[in-house]
Amino acid sequence: MKEFNINSLVRENIVKLQPYISFRDHNEFNAPVLLDANECPFGEFNRYPDSSQKKLKNKLAGLKGLSPEQIAIGNGSDELIDLIIKIFCEPKKDAILMMNPSFAMYGFYAAVNENEVVKLDLDDNFEMVKDDFIKITQKRDIKVFFLCSPNNPTGNSVKDLEFFIQNFDGIVVIDEAYIEFSENRSGIEVLDQYPNVIVLQTFSKAWGTAGARVGTAYASKEIIRFINTVKAPYNVNALSQELIISLLDDKNKLKDNVAKVLNEREWLKEEFKSIDCIEKVFPTDTNFFLIKMKDGTKVYQTMLDEEILTSQRAPAIQNCIRINVGTREENEKLINILKTVK
Ligand SMILES: Cc1ncc(COP(=O)(O)O)c(C=O)c1O
Repeated sequence: MKEFNINSLVRENIVKLQPYISFRDHNEFNAPVLLDANECPFGEFNRYPDSSQKKLKNKLAGLKGLSPEQIAIGNGSDELIDLIIKIFCEPKKDAILMMNPSFAMYGFYAAVNENEVVKLDLDDNFEMVKDDFIKITQKRDIKVFFLCSPNNPTGNSVKDLEFFIQNFDGIVVIDEAYIEFSENRSGIEVLDQYPNVIVLQTFSKAWGTAGARVGTAYASKEIIRFINTVKAPYNVNALSQELIISLLDDKNKLKDNVAKVLNEREWLKEEFKSIDCIEKVFPTDTNFFLIKMKDGTKVYQTMLDEEILTSQRAPAIQNCIRINVGTREENEKLINILKTVK
């Protein structure tokens, strides 16, 4: 990595941009009469949410061993992906890099912002080839590299993550949406070493609150300040903030969810071994399996006819279907239907 200067990576207009600051953020004396935001004086959720999500950030900071200034909260990590691209990538000029196959939203938000999407094809084991990575990054200046680990839809974790961080002259986003299901250490542990790294996590997967739409970004204070500058002022609603704060108080919730999902994952893995229509089950560090079927379309359609929706990955990954771990009842239904496909 070249010498790091955050302002040289951020778009010029964003460096100059002043954040929107709610009057409430200046309310140091906690004025009880709030006549500043044109709200209705009646009702339970009549007030705008805390725009800087102080309580939630303080809680997370304690849990993650970071300072609250190193945390940004998004309306799902999807929003944070969008904001990161907007902060660093000049429309029609800059490019992002993503693994292929990987999570589609990186490419989607880059397209919305008119940024080129450079794809690094994974090998047959869904791993990055270091030589290919070096060649691609030498050929083209790339602003942001989205590194998804464990990766969606392949399920495996990136090996030798630090090699890719050390050899990239831009922002490296480590998307850890599924980290709680893996045994790997979080990229949060290397934030001190690498000022160009942003770690994304979410409450949508292991925490079991996808409906609340809350995702988190962890990075240097400088990067987080830019995310807070460009976000919509009230991007995370009050109900969701309250829900997640109370969830964080329940020490066993995450552990329970993960233990149950991993137990079901093991059960499914054993059951898959005796299913004829399956050609290969790829290793997974997540709450889903990528499975190569003998005839992917036939299996997908059979499940659909039996009212089980899965995620067909063809044509990108031939004959493959991504199936997430469900409840035992759902998993049993899945297995019974798979057994009928000849
Ligand atoms: C790798 C990855 N990142 C991010 C997300 C988005 O998560 P969120 O619900 O926090 O927007 C997903 C959702 O499927 C995902 O698979």
